[in-house]
Amino acid sequence: MYKIDIMTLFPDTMGDMLSDSIIGRGQERGFLRAECHQIRDYTANKQRQVDDYPYGGGRGCVMYAQPLCDLREHILSGADGERVRTIYLSPAGKTFTQRDAVRLVNDYDRLILVCGHYEGVDERFIDACVDEEISIGDFVLTGGELPALVVADAVCRLVPGVLPDEECFAEESHWSGMLEYPQYTRPEVWRGRRVPEVLLSGHHENIRRWRRTQSLARTKKRRPDMFARLEPLDKRDLKLLQELSEEEK
Ligand SMILES: C[S@@+](CC[C@H](N)C(=O)[O-])C[C@H]1O[C@@H](n2cnc3c(N)ncnc32)[C@H](O)[C@@H]1O
Repeated sequence: MYKIDIMTLFPDTMGDMLSDSIIGRGQERGFLRAECHQIRDYTANKQRQVDDYPYGGGRGCVMYAQPLCDLREHILSGADGERVRTIYLSPAGKTFTQRDAVRLVNDYDRLILVCGHYEGVDERFIDACVDEEISIGDFVLTGGELPALVVADAVCRLVPGVLPDEECFAEESHWSGMLEYPQYTRPEVWRGRRVPEVLLSGHHENIRRWRRTQSLARTKKRRPDMFARLEPLDKRDLKLLQELSEEEK
């Protein structure tokens, strides 16, 4: 069973999100266990204060290292023999990708996701206890809760058994460095827009080729950075792109 422990000041709000959707179903079926822990329960002061003014001055407050470290140690005390990774969600971390989600599910049995708030956490906690810092993008949010849910969702759906089979994600955007092809469902015509004829043909090889072409073309147009990483393309892909550009002439 894959485990996720989230260290947060808002465990109740997080709990609702984790008991629904893919993560909730994965938990019900015994493939996952996601738990939220209240950082405030580990403070060493009567007021249950979790933060204080930054040394050197400046606006806002910084979260104490002590409650974060004590809570992490409490979680680790129940993680005998498990491969645990402690991750601090931070706008100063490395940007999260699908490749990271795959790595985290393959290389570890348990993730501890630390949600910061205010101006962030005392750097000494990061130095002493954190294995890696992950950002979900080049913007700043109020807290680490949404980023932790983003990482948890991306990882949990890859845990074997959570989705019906690997095909559910193996053709999705980012899995193999490309964007996914367009998808359609009923009806065949909606507001005068028809589903591409090839998808109704039942011809599996033609459908596969169409989807591959669409994926390549979309990636090239929308994400030239990803497309550049696909190069050199193999002969079959080059041929598909050539056929597409001839059709578009
Ligand atoms: C207001 S932010 C602190 C920003 C920090 N002072 C800085 O400039 O890097 C509060 C918390 O939100 C979380 N957070 C904000 N933006 C994030 C992002 N893009 N990715 C991951 N976590 C983020 C982090 O846990 C952070 O400790």
